[in-house]
Amino acid sequence: MHKKKYFFNQSLKNLNTFRIDVTAKKIIFITTITSLIYILQTCKLSRIPYIILGEGSNVLFLKNYIGIIIINRIKGIKIIEQKNAWLLHVHSGEKWHNLVKYTLNLGILGLENLALIPGCIGSAAIQNIGAYGLEFKDLCQYVDVISFKKSITYTNPSTKRIYSHSCNFSYRNSIFKDPCHSESAIIAVGIKISKKWHPIIFPSLKNYIQPKCITAHKIFNIICKIRIKKLPDPKKIGNAGSFFKNPIITQQHAKKLISLYNLPHYPQLKGLVKISGGWLIENSKYKNIKIGDAAIHDKNKLILININRATSQEILQIAKIIHAHILKKFHIWLEPEVDFIGSQKKIKASDIFT
Ligand code: FAD
Ligand code: EPU
Repeated sequence: MHKKKYFFNQSLKNLNTFRIDVTAKKIIFITTITSLIYILQTCKLSRIPYIILGEGSNVLFLKNYIGIIIINRIKGIKIIEQKNAWLLHVHSGEKWHNLVKYTLNLGILGLENLALIPGCIGSAAIQNIGAYGLEFKDLCQYVDVISFKKSITYTNPSTKRIYSHSCNFSYRNSIFKDPCHSESAIIAVGIKISKKWHPIIFPSLKNYIQPKCITAHKIFNIICKIRIKKLPDPKKIGNAGSFFKNPIITQQHAKKLISLYNLPHYPQLKGLVKISGGWLIENSKYKNIKIGDAAIHDKNKLILININRATSQEILQIAKIIHAHILKKFHIWLEPEVDFIGSQKKIKASDIFT
């Protein structure tokens, strides 16, 4: 598909789903672990900034990038059959949705609730992707990374297997988001799928499903239909899915908000409560804000969109206005879900939203 592997000073517009038109000094498509290690080692030795990308569906580029963008296309799926489960070893450049379809067609059932989520396998582990009652962590056995904390050589790379219980997975979060892991590259993940299939019928799916004749394929089809209807297609309208996470707040804070607004809320572990971020934005005076070609999606207010030629500054302006307003009105600090990429490194959300 990408016959040429290197590109210089080219636009990243088709490599990020927000379709932000910034350039990178160099873009490299890699298909093997060996070439990934070689490029990372070169970057480290020559102090060249680099970022690894899958499909660019969870990033916002703020400026032209002055280093190397490494596009991960390391592919391969190995399946081992056990008595009660399937064990999958999947390389990080495989597309998540392709894995969902591939396993379903083989009769390996269990990934269907995560249908149609854009992005690659490696990135799925980073933010612990989730939808309709299922999260990556529910299936993950391990994550294989190349760690650059210790020095590596081309012939003797330092690869590490991090088992699921050490990944600290939580809602849209994992250790791979920590700054101490910012230099790790995910090369593969291990997934375990039980042979005993249990449908997960999330409350919002109940209206579409008759429990008696439910199959994994039906859940897959329904979720695909809902997502196509509710979410903007990045091929037509730039976006990165939910721009902000749904906030998780204390019970005391939630009680106050519920008594004032009767808003949608979902109890969590440890007495915490998840609030719908979409509802908060929909019930604010900025729900229809538009700056240049940046706007809020009409069907889901957590999603910011690039209608055509929006700049990242326009998207950020909207995000900052919403952020400040939600903080003022509901006393909630909305945490962004997308990663912000500056001219040579990732930028912390707390440096953007004060
Ligand atoms: P990228 O955007 O390419 O990268 C994300 C981050 O991971 C970056 O910081 C990047 O540097 C880093 N990274 C990528 N690969 C590696 C690697 N191999 N090693 C080290 N670091 C790496 N998310 C959900 O959880 N649930 C949803 O339902 C959902 N729906 C979405 C719907 C739409 C329309 C869109 C556009 C996005 C949606 N998302 C959703 C967000 C997004 O799909 C996920 O976050 C996805 O996992 C990102 O994958 P990616 O390959 O595009 O990551
Ligand atoms: N709601 C509103 N207004 C909105 C959006 C939502 O009032 O604009 C309320 C409604 O009460 C609705 C409820 O919130 O019933 C839940 O909405 P929805 O099912 O659309 O879910 P969401 O909270 O907007 C989350 C994830 C999605 C994931 C869906 C399905 C986050 C940040 N987003 O969205 O993930 O696909 O649930 O499970 O958790 C993503 O992470 O990029 C993403 C798209």
